[in-house]
Amino acid sequence: WWYGHNAVGFFLTAGFLGMMYYFVPKQAGRPVYSYRLSVVHFWALISLYMWAGPHHLHYTALPNWTQSIGMVFSLMLLAPSWGGMINGIMTLSGAWHKLRTDPILRFMIVSLSFYGMSTFEGPMMSIKTVNALSHYTDWTIGHVHSGALGWVALISIGCVYALIPQLFNRRIYSTKLIEVHFWTGTIGIVLYIASMWIAGVMQGLMWRAVNEDGTLTYSFVEALVRMYPYLTVRFLGGLLFLVGMFVMAWNVYKTLQGDEQPVSAPAPQAA
Ligand code: HEM
Ligand code: HEM
Repeated sequence: WWYGHNAVGFFLTAGFLGMMYYFVPKQAGRPVYSYRLSVVHFWALISLYMWAGPHHLHYTALPNWTQSIGMVFSLMLLAPSWGGMINGIMTLSGAWHKLRTDPILRFMIVSLSFYGMSTFEGPMMSIKTVNALSHYTDWTIGHVHSGALGWVALISIGCVYALIPQLFNRRIYSTKLIEVHFWTGTIGIVLYIASMWIAGVMQGLMWRAVNEDGTLTYSFVEALVRMYPYLTVRFLGGLLFLVGMFVMAWNVYKTLQGDEQPVSAPAPQAA
């Protein structure tokens, strides 16, 4: 997990922050809120992420002091993570009204909100007493996807929509369809995460419930059967998200079929 957590930190975070820093100012037509903050939170992320891995191994054979270090560094990690989120969202200062008309910008800003949410949830889950409940449950799966879908997928989708007109010199076929995609994606993710929160907490509580004589109150299968409704909601959420991706594929296909015409990027304004 020394290396494993860096997969989250660098594979699922750093590159996407790079995309965010390029595309959000472009799409908003505003300069980055604070260049200094971007430098500080970059180096803080790099140095703190390295030490957070043991939070995946709480209550295992890993020495206790190592687990505590993992927990403390995970808690500190909240600060640089939120540095990035705040820097991205505040880049919209003076351009908030664009959110009403630009669904591409909405993808980007909602992805930043999910980034903020998952990097708040992560440090909470790394607290040993919280992890005693959440570990091995669907709560972790919910957390994974509030990062993987909410942050990674939404920022990527927003960037692809922003890039296509520039790359192929064509206007997007339908802004309305981007709007539809935004809502199917967002509602899909919310259904996924919310169902996994409830399922996860319920699993954790059922697994740890003991009778007076010390035997387990519930068998594993009993807990599993109680998960069915939540797994169904997750399926519906995933399906909605998938439908949105088909809508995007159609929109991109129709865009590429359209006539070629020069499209200029929104010009950044002075701060
Ligand atoms: C401050 C930032 C974060 C912290 C401190 C953090 C903390 C945690 C914790 C405590 C767990 C549960 C470990 C367990 O009980 O097994 C976890 C799991 C996970 N997190 Fe995060 N998280 C953060 C951000 C993110 C983000 C942004 C993503 C995705 C983009 C992400 C992806 C994952 C994945 C994939 C797992 C599951 C790994 C596995 O067991 O397969 N995390 N994280
Ligand atoms: C419609 C979209 C998606 C759906 C429906 C979906 C569904 C699932 C399911 C059912 C699992 C197994 C969870 C379990 O063990 O109960 C899973 C695991 C996982 N997914 Fe996704 N996924 C989606 C998109 C993504 C994306 C875009 C990423 C990465 C960017 C991702 C990263 C992961 C990871 C890292 C795990 C392993 C988590 C763990 O075992 O701790 N998923 N996903």
